[in-house]
Amino acid sequence: MSTTSPRRILVTSALPYANGAIHLGHLLEYVQTDIWVRFQKSRGQQCYYVCADDAHGTAIMLRAEQEGITPEALIDRVSRDHQADFARFGIGFDNYHSTHSEENRYYSELIYQRLRDKGHIATREIEQMFDPQKGLFLADRFIKGTCPKCGSDDQYGDNCEKCGATYTPAELINPVSAISGATPEVRSSTHYFFKLPDFADFLQSWINDGHVQPQIRNKLMEWFESGFNEWDISRDAPYFGFEIPDAPGKYFYVWLDAPIGYLASFKNLCDREDIDFDSFWQPSSDAEIYHFIGKDIVYFHALFWPAMLHGADLRTPTAVNCHGFLTVDGAKMSKSRGTFIKAATYADHLNPEYLRYYFAAKLTSKVDDLDLNLDDFAARVNADLVGKVVNIASRCAGFVKKLGGGRLSAHCSEPQIVARFIAAGDDIAQDFEAREFSRAMRNIMELADEANTYIAEKEPWVLAKQTGREAEVLDICSVGINLFRQLMVYLAPVVPKMAEQAREFLNIDTLNWHSRHDLLVDHEINKFKPLMQRVERDKIDAMIDVSKEDLVEEEKLKQAPKGPLTDDPIAPEISFDEFAKVDLRIARIAKAQYVEGADKLLQLTLDIGGETRTVFSGIRSAYAPEALEGRLTVMVANLAPRKMRFGVSEGMVLASANQDGIYLLSPDSGAEPGQRVT
Ligand code: MSP
Ligand code: ZN
Repeated sequence: MSTTSPRRILVTSALPYANGAIHLGHLLEYVQTDIWVRFQKSRGQQCYYVCADDAHGTAIMLRAEQEGITPEALIDRVSRDHQADFARFGIGFDNYHSTHSEENRYYSELIYQRLRDKGHIATREIEQMFDPQKGLFLADRFIKGTCPKCGSDDQYGDNCEKCGATYTPAELINPVSAISGATPEVRSSTHYFFKLPDFADFLQSWINDGHVQPQIRNKLMEWFESGFNEWDISRDAPYFGFEIPDAPGKYFYVWLDAPIGYLASFKNLCDREDIDFDSFWQPSSDAEIYHFIGKDIVYFHALFWPAMLHGADLRTPTAVNCHGFLTVDGAKMSKSRGTFIKAATYADHLNPEYLRYYFAAKLTSKVDDLDLNLDDFAARVNADLVGKVVNIASRCAGFVKKLGGGRLSAHCSEPQIVARFIAAGDDIAQDFEAREFSRAMRNIMELADEANTYIAEKEPWVLAKQTGREAEVLDICSVGINLFRQLMVYLAPVVPKMAEQAREFLNIDTLNWHSRHDLLVDHEINKFKPLMQRVERDKIDAMIDVSKEDLVEEEKLKQAPKGPLTDDPIAPEISFDEFAKVDLRIARIAKAQYVEGADKLLQLTLDIGGETRTVFSGIRSAYAPEALEGRLTVMVANLAPRKMRFGVSEGMVLASANQDGIYLLSPDSGAEPGQRVT
């Protein structure tokens, strides 16, 4: 056994956006990463795998609004859904966090401040389209209009899908906001920029230093030659994100704090498990850090991110491991064809470990796209996992039970074959390490073929019918079980649930990489239960049908009337006594004012008959402060005080809301401040 101390490794997958469900395309990445992490853990390395939801940005803000809930309620729900999906696919994160977290705020501010203090932040006025109805600056993809070149209607942002022309959104004819339909205006505002060109030399050598795959390096170098710009890292309120510390009303752009979410999630884990965070992230760290990502987000991870880290005196990643995109039956996943398949829909119909195996069988260390061909998928899983691997155990287990009483032979009759299977683990390990999973799977299946050939040639079922050859049959099947065990050690990172059942069947403590050196002799095994069913085509078809229905459901949501703005639209039933605990009072709004740095809040001073209360209320979008002063409303007077960033809120006023506005309650005339409302 090797005496070197374990490697310390931190691994991440990209943080999925918190406004949509996990689908099979995502899973390609999480499965790839999870296999690699499980392999490292099997080898005894100290390896941590962290991820989080990417919870900020305009899209999430708008999605929440569309559903009539707060962004916080949306990201909570989506985080639960994401984690449930990942669990079904056996993605074994050591921690799953959120970018909307205190840790992330801390590191975002820290990194920003360090960059700013070293002069790597610039500010500049920029002109941008503004939606006067929503009070929102519009990113290019939220503007549509008629192409200035060919006259096609309904073209988004800065390029025409019909004629391929590129332009600025301001050049569109009759531009409209895709959010409200209003005509956008050009407005200017101050933006904050990260001065990426300051890091040109650093990045040039970083990219050429083996931290990215050759294909990625070449692509980045092309980009390098065309020169690169400062990166706009701020967005104006309203924005769901973190306010920039020294810039009220300005928020960090979601892509600034998203990768910092890797630090935040790891920090959260370190605090919980007493791991030394700094020993991973300080510049002199000897730990390894790997980011697994898709090819669409390379620039963020291979340029902005290392530059940010370097500029903030943190270490840069050991490598950014990039994969290609998933296609289904040779084409981009398509909602109308039913090949845009959600993780949950898949798992309702098919065993997730089929997909894990299929991905492993096709994944390489390259950036090429990967096709899930559904016929090939069924054929491959059935032939390999069921036909080759499970078959070995099912052929041998019965004889071991019958002839050995469940106990394997006391000696190994074929030490060379078993030794060869053990030795093969070194090559297979190299392939796992290098993310050449496809090659590893091929190697493992060749071993499975060998094991099957061995059993087929020995014909234990023929011998079993001859008297006096029981010991021989038991020997053969004991070898078969040992070979099966070797295969399961190698497959365990890929199919962990199947491996767990195999471990129980084999009656051993572990299937970790090193354990394969101990032969199973004179060892009792447990009753064999089928480890995996065949893939059935009708299950695949049912999954496709449901995926088509998912599309219909989504369209319905888009058209659904918007509900109230609440965290939880369904309140449980309460007794009268519970209701009576709420102290509702008539209140007079003595004073109303804006709150600096809070784009949704008004600060209200409420008179409840001789007593005044300060309440922060999210009604700014609907009321000008002066319009509120003097009017009566209803407040909850015995709500526990809540400490907010701007002060303590001592109660709340009652209002309803829908997509069009917010409606503060008022009593009929005659009511007086301080009166109880029952
Ligand atoms: N939130 C950003 C990542 C921030 S990381 C600091 C994001 N989210 S995502 O939900 O769109 O994608 C998450 C990951 O899934 C990305 O690495 C992306 O490349 C990958 N994939 C999304 N669709 C995919 C396919 N169809 N095929 C393969 N990977 C895909 O990007
Ligand atoms: Zn055009």
